[in-house]
Amino acid sequence: MKVGIIGCGYVFDKYMPTWGNHPELVIAGVSDIDPKRVDAVTRHYGLKAYTDNAALLADPEIDIVANFTPIRTHYEVSKAALEAGKHVYSEKPLVTRMDQARELIDLAESRGLRVSCAPSNVLGATSQTMWKAMLDGAIGRARMVYAEFDADPCYMLGEVSTCQPEPGCSFPYLDENSTRSVTGAFFPFVKEFEMGCTYEHVAYHLSWMCAMFGPVKTVTAFSKVVMPDKTDAPLDPADTPDFSVAVMDFHSGVAGRVTCSINGANDLRMRIIGDRGILTTETYGDYKCPVYLDLFSKLSVKTKHLKVVRNSPMLQWVFGVAPRELPLVPAQANGSRRAGRVSWWDVRGRLAQIKQAELNRQDKCVGIGDLAAAISSGRPHYPSHDFTLHMTELTLAIQAAGTRSQTHVLETTFHPVELPEWTRQAARNYREYLKPLWRTRLTERALDALKG
Ligand SMILES: NC(=O)c1ccc[n+]([C@@H]2O[C@H](COP(=O)([O-])OP(=O)(O)OC[C@H]3O[C@@H](n4cnc5c(N)ncnc54)[C@H](O)[C@@H]3O)[C@@H](O)[C@H]2O)c1
Repeated sequence: MKVGIIGCGYVFDKYMPTWGNHPELVIAGVSDIDPKRVDAVTRHYGLKAYTDNAALLADPEIDIVANFTPIRTHYEVSKAALEAGKHVYSEKPLVTRMDQARELIDLAESRGLRVSCAPSNVLGATSQTMWKAMLDGAIGRARMVYAEFDADPCYMLGEVSTCQPEPGCSFPYLDENSTRSVTGAFFPFVKEFEMGCTYEHVAYHLSWMCAMFGPVKTVTAFSKVVMPDKTDAPLDPADTPDFSVAVMDFHSGVAGRVTCSINGANDLRMRIIGDRGILTTETYGDYKCPVYLDLFSKLSVKTKHLKVVRNSPMLQWVFGVAPRELPLVPAQANGSRRAGRVSWWDVRGRLAQIKQAELNRQDKCVGIGDLAAAISSGRPHYPSHDFTLHMTELTLAIQAAGTRSQTHVLETTFHPVELPEWTRQAARNYREYLKPLWRTRLTERALDALKG
């Protein structure tokens, strides 16, 4: 299936390392309003350049348009693509207004087209494992879900205030020392600050929470600018929140909390808490990140009450109360492409290889792959239109919450998302992990004997 990509900036280079995992996806060509970016990516990846978006959209060979432009232009670019008869895969969030979101979905449906939206991390092995383990009852019944997106202090990485905007440059206020992608795109600090960490990040967590626990009934959120001095570059708007916390009441009865910030706590955990235990993983961003099951028992409650046990993985192992690593499901999206060979003395090459290997662990292309497969077979794609509308409503509500904590009652809902068939087929039954380990039983007996 042929894909035309509009927008060749920083995120473009994050998609490219795993594009090859999806041989069914052929890049027809690219366009960007910045000719320097088109030149950089076409030379680096050997891709075809279209003179502009209109030329790309006029190509009858293209089935799907991937919209990798900044959030501000998502609406106009996606709308033009739908009007040209193309299916759309958009970077998140779909748009920044609900009326525009509804308009795009209505437009697509009226023309028999599909809209899909990043992120796709729920299709990765880590999220699929947590989901399957939760459905299998490995933690009993799920009661709460916590997610953190306390990102790196990214404002440290760019000299965002030391140079003046170049005429015609789409990356103002960045100098040569700023972080760049492999083809030289600057990390767009200014745009990220203007859009805010909630627009930029919350969907990574909201999407797996909603896929697993269904639609949200109400969200009570708080959002605020806690670092007004993160840059001295003029921001438009200047008051976009850089911190948000949202508490959600899911129709399924589960309560959830998600936090976003850029203040360097570097905490990206996902946790599902049930009445028998907790499922944890370290990050949304590594599709093969290990998943741990921490079971509750009388012994675990008593021993973990002690600091000496809490701080010692060895003692936890001895007592049989350590979290157990679950074997990951062999999920569709595993980012398995290897970086090319590099000689041992090539330090730069080695560093690039390490970076490439890290990028490979987040197969960003899996959502486009799923869209293409769904179009070919006629099956529904993930995420569905109603799911995307729900994500958009939640994201906008959290960003707009402010400091007075009002409760937003969701207007949108979606049909429950099914755990994909390949995971059902390929994964084991994680309920078997509810059985206590021999070490746990032994310690319990020893303690009982001591008491007796
Ligand atoms: N930067 C990241 O690490 C990252 C990660 C995940 C998702 N995203 C998302 O990806 C999207 C793009 O972000 P980015 O970081 O690549 O931004 P960017 O500014 O680096 O790149 C955007 C590119 O789109 C081009 N562009 C702007 N308007 C256009 C238009 N109307 N037509 C054609 N091209 C146009 C720009 O010239 C630029 O090259 C955003 O939605 C962002 O939220 C970014």
